[in-house]
Amino acid sequence: MRTQVGIIGAGPAGLMLSHLLYLQGIDSIILECRTREEIEGTIRAGVLEQGTVNLLNAMGASERMMREAHFHHGIELRFNGEGHRINMHELTGGKKVTVYAQHEVLKDLIALRLETGGQMIFNAGDVSLHDLDTASPKIRFRKEQDGELQEISCDYIAGCDGFHGPSRPSIPAEIRKEYQKIYPYGWLGILIEAPPSSPELIYANHERGFALVSTRSPEIQRLYIQVDPKDDIANWSDDRIWTELHARLSTKDGWKLIEGPIFQKGIVAMRSYVCESMQYGRLFLAGDAAHIVPPTGAKGLNLAAADVYVLARSLDAFYKSGKIELLESYSTNCLRHIWKSERFSWFMTSMLHPNHEHTPFERRMQLAELNFATSSRAAMTTLAEEYVDGSLVGQFTESGRNVLV
Ligand code: APR
Ligand code: PHB
Repeated sequence: MRTQVGIIGAGPAGLMLSHLLYLQGIDSIILECRTREEIEGTIRAGVLEQGTVNLLNAMGASERMMREAHFHHGIELRFNGEGHRINMHELTGGKKVTVYAQHEVLKDLIALRLETGGQMIFNAGDVSLHDLDTASPKIRFRKEQDGELQEISCDYIAGCDGFHGPSRPSIPAEIRKEYQKIYPYGWLGILIEAPPSSPELIYANHERGFALVSTRSPEIQRLYIQVDPKDDIANWSDDRIWTELHARLSTKDGWKLIEGPIFQKGIVAMRSYVCESMQYGRLFLAGDAAHIVPPTGAKGLNLAAADVYVLARSLDAFYKSGKIELLESYSTNCLRHIWKSERFSWFMTSMLHPNHEHTPFERRMQLAELNFATSSRAAMTTLAEEYVDGSLVGQFTESGRNVLV
């Protein structure tokens, strides 16, 4: 088999890249180790920046999203029993927060790729990368996990296979520099059947731990609480989860959290991570394969979108006019916006999670940070700009403009 760009991974990065390349007349094949059903059923985060929405619009991938998503004009930061609204819409000149689950974005992108003749091989086994420092890199894999070994020759390979995929470890260790912070807490997330308790997202810092109120639809809500990342979900009965949520979200004016049956729960650990460089020979890493952010800043999917936007443009410059400068500077160009979003995600995480390792002084500093973030117009504007449009896509995409021409 042969293709121009071999893509490993059918997450947001791989699927968006494949469709962006298609729109530019560049051929690609996606190899994914999971089944389509698994990908479409995995619960992840759900907040899209304005630039990501503009990009999905321009790609023709937003029709259902524009009908079903929730568009919020602000978020609430809650601490000391009081809520403080940050009016993002006003502070950013009309930008919005779009709440639409990541697996719904994936369903839309897979359907679009199938409609447009995209080649996707799901359930691929033993995916490995070869000859990356030659002009003809190759991907080997098995169809259907235990089938015969097959090979795809490519001009370039895009490693969009998330944090645990084989692409990043294919870059020689002496060339990779890794930066990492592991947080001493994780998030326990639940999905419930209930109407929304709040018209906008609530990020709460309570001495018992962080809590987040988010939404999925008028009938389904998404809630999180800070827990020990090593804790076992079996230790968390529904009653215990509700007790913590009520305590951490309580306000002096008696705000009410609406309960409902919990139908999904799980614990995720939190880390910040960046791999430099994001390229080696003819391999380019994009999305979680190259970097991880803790979910507090809601940046994961948006960073993946920004990377593949830059990569698609760089590949387009190569195929249209033989220019390799953009490809050569891909990693440098991406790392600017990645470190910016890493800083924001680390800042939001540090400000919102009480930490058992903190001294009483550090706890006071955290509350002072929250007071400042919710009372100074300059601080609120900074937070709003970063939250609504912090990654690079926003710098390239203006509402309504077709970013692909
Ligand atoms: N072979 C083929 N595919 C693989 C392999 C492998 N060996 N290992 C992993 N994959 C696939 C995974 O099954 C997954 O579908 O690569 C895909 C990577 O997708 P994501 O992990 O979603 O990463 P990315 O596309 O970069 O999107 C980043 O997703 O994880 C969230 O919060 C994160 O929002 C962020 C976004
Ligand atoms: C979610 O809805 O899953 C969500 C929202 C905001 C975040 C993280 C996750 O910061």
